[in-house]
Amino acid sequence: MTVSADLYLTQINAATSTAALDDIRVALLGKKGSVTELMKTLGALPPEERKAQGAAINALKEQLSAALDARKASLSAVELAEKLTKERVDITLPAAVSAPGALHPINNTILDITCLFAAQGFTVASATDVEDEFHNFDALNFPPDHPAKAMHDTFYMQDGKLLRTHTSTVQVHVLQTQKPPLRILAPGRVYRCDSDQTHAPMFHQIEGFVVEPGIHFGHLKGTLERFLSDFFGIPNLPVRFRPSFFPFTEPSAEVDIGCDRSGGGLKIGSGGDWLEVLGCGMIHPNVLRQCGLDPAVHQGFAFGMGVERLAMLKHGIPDLRAFFAGNSKWLRHFGRAPLGGLA
Ligand code: DAH
Repeated sequence: MTVSADLYLTQINAATSTAALDDIRVALLGKKGSVTELMKTLGALPPEERKAQGAAINALKEQLSAALDARKASLSAVELAEKLTKERVDITLPAAVSAPGALHPINNTILDITCLFAAQGFTVASATDVEDEFHNFDALNFPPDHPAKAMHDTFYMQDGKLLRTHTSTVQVHVLQTQKPPLRILAPGRVYRCDSDQTHAPMFHQIEGFVVEPGIHFGHLKGTLERFLSDFFGIPNLPVRFRPSFFPFTEPSAEVDIGCDRSGGGLKIGSGGDWLEVLGCGMIHPNVLRQCGLDPAVHQGFAFGMGVERLAMLKHGIPDLRAFFAGNSKWLRHFGRAPLGGLA
């Protein structure tokens, strides 16, 4: 019996899918395949013929196997290419994520306040959280023995540096490096050795200041009254300037807004009661001098506010610690998408 590969090779090369090719492999080389059946005929041959025929069948097997492998490789490549085309995903198509994030109310409040002051011509500046005594205290006219310098209020590093206790440091950095006229807003983190229901060792402040020719206390009043009324969304919000003291301003004032505490709650607006919201004043001549400015030429006003406090008042958040607890349910409730949208 002669063994011809041609017929089988034609079949193999005519296969149009890897599945069809697998069937051909079984039909040829499987347990009951044609080539396997050929092997079984060897036993009936005389020994000298058996040898030659056995070698021929083995060669055929190898030839077919190689042809099957080659055909499989080319069919697989075609099938893969077809699959990739068919299952193509356009990853550039816009799609919504299933769990949208929201801005933390602290960041949100900072954004709101920044926008409201931007509308009054302010630009944002910043400085580092790690400071030296000069920028945090001395340049801001704190006397050398001021109690705020004490170890129990301020976090000191081993090298004598400290974590800034207020964002007023930005006044010094900006006044030393930029030329007036200046309208600056400086949000940032501040640190104090303090921790209870109403104090956190790290919290956020926003410092603001203006240094322009002819600036006086009336401008300070007008700027803050407009801001507070915009921030709380209450037209004609009652605002009171109460004399106070800060080393870096003279005169200094604390600012109260009107509220109503009758009935146990707190309602911002008119009502005969007052609530303190920020500190302010005219920049002290010593501060201007320490920054290389002549107080006879330059005047300005400054103010500072606590972001957590304002966020708590605006959104009715009772406990300061919630801001730092990382509770995702709370964050979803108080968080907000940027640009005023709902998260
Ligand atoms: N630095 C003050 C604080 O940490 C806040 C402050 C009060 C800033 C009055 C000012 C200001 O610029 O004029 O409590």
